[in-house]
Amino acid sequence: MSQKKITVAVVGCGSRGNAYASSIKLMPEKFEIVACSDIIPDKMERFAAEYGVPAEGCYPSAEVLLEQEKLADVLFICTMDRQHYGHAIPALKKGYHLVLEKPASTDPKECMEIARVANENDRHVVVCHVLRYTPYFRKVKEIVDSGVLGKVYNIMANEGVTYWHQAHSFVRGNWRNSDETCPMIMQKCCHDMDIFLWITGKHCKAISSFGALSHFKRECAPEGSPERCTEECPAYATCPYSIERYLHHAKNGCFGWPLDVVSPATNYEDFRRDLLAGPYGRCAYKCDNNVVDHQVVNVLFEDDLTLTFNMCAFTNEHTGRGLHIMGTMGDLVSNLDDNKIKLTHFRQGIEEVEYIDYSAETDQFGHGGGDYVLVSDLYDLLTGNMPNSVTSINDSVESHIMCLAAEKSRVAGGELVRIEDYVKTL
Ligand SMILES: NC(=O)c1ccc[n+]([C@@H]2O[C@H](COP(=O)([O-])OP(=O)(O)OC[C@H]3O[C@@H](n4cnc5c(N)ncnc54)[C@H](O)[C@@H]3O)[C@@H](O)[C@H]2O)c1
Repeated sequence: MSQKKITVAVVGCGSRGNAYASSIKLMPEKFEIVACSDIIPDKMERFAAEYGVPAEGCYPSAEVLLEQEKLADVLFICTMDRQHYGHAIPALKKGYHLVLEKPASTDPKECMEIARVANENDRHVVVCHVLRYTPYFRKVKEIVDSGVLGKVYNIMANEGVTYWHQAHSFVRGNWRNSDETCPMIMQKCCHDMDIFLWITGKHCKAISSFGALSHFKRECAPEGSPERCTEECPAYATCPYSIERYLHHAKNGCFGWPLDVVSPATNYEDFRRDLLAGPYGRCAYKCDNNVVDHQVVNVLFEDDLTLTFNMCAFTNEHTGRGLHIMGTMGDLVSNLDDNKIKLTHFRQGIEEVEYIDYSAETDQFGHGGGDYVLVSDLYDLLTGNMPNSVTSINDSVESHIMCLAAEKSRVAGGELVRIEDYVKTL
């Protein structure tokens, strides 16, 4: 008996749209992409060619796609942060289930409204908290749920952004300015807050935060540096944030992420031309960025559970997401980028827990295989083999509220924000 195929439409054929489509392509018996849209025709055409979307399924914008009769079972919303709400509400009313990129919205009231409209129309909204789908975090949760750590009272966690990733995304790139998108703690770490809520199974009661944009600003620029990053700059050879890194990869023929965000070119000369002319060719100290480059967050959960969280730009690429979960019977030390979890039972000693499911299939899609598993779970959800999504909009809202509360605290110099009071102000 042949399987039911789930039909898919994708709005936003950028990095994320392509990431999910790559996973979908590996499951041709389960999914078919029948429609797509992007306001950049080149991107849409390449997407359509790569994933076999027919010409009549290609639309010049999400808005035009949403004017049509319902085209597919599920719509992947992979446009930019502030567009999600405007695309989600009409799509739900048309009857689409949604896979919705995070942040679901930069305004928690809009997140709640998406949840309300989804429930009213009996539609699933899967928010792309991809970490919940990784074998790594699933194993961490399994260990905590098993009770071997005893009662967990403290978590120490860090998000090492990586020095060049900060310069790419949060200084020169898409998420550099919170007036256009959202605060960095929301953009980068609503995932982390979501994971803490999920792993602990507890609600957040209060939060405080410090942080600043301390380095990527004009007064820190190397002496004599020009507005754009060029070899003429006296610091070109030593600056970790120079464009040399992009050019090095392009010379070696590597045009995948993040180079594909800079330019669609797949040859060195065209890539260099686009880089030098565009926003990613600016001096990293002379951009219109305003998001932080380091931030700490203190969280109080129910039952006295405390968390310290540290997001920082100035890390090497192997720092990743680190986690130390401390319980009364043992502790757990791990990192998303490793393939082992160090579990210490205070009486019995150390155990190394292997969890990896880094099969060639999943690993190539990043996020520790999370993107692939999200798509795979979606099939089970939409064919009735899974009652609820593990990252439903209803569950996602609290992580967004935590991030915005942290930002409120940071902006107010670290003042305590009680979630109960904060929610009343929304
Ligand atoms: N889940 C995750 O871990 C994760 C990781 C990175 C980014 N994101 C989120 O995913 C979203 C997309 O990020 P990205 O990195 O793919 O960005 P991107 O810029 O690569 O892709 C966005 C695409 O949307 C297109 N677009 C803009 N307006 C449109 C419209 N009206 N109709 C159709 N297409 C339109 C753009 O042209 C672009 O191609 C963002 O909200 C981002 O915060 C999530």
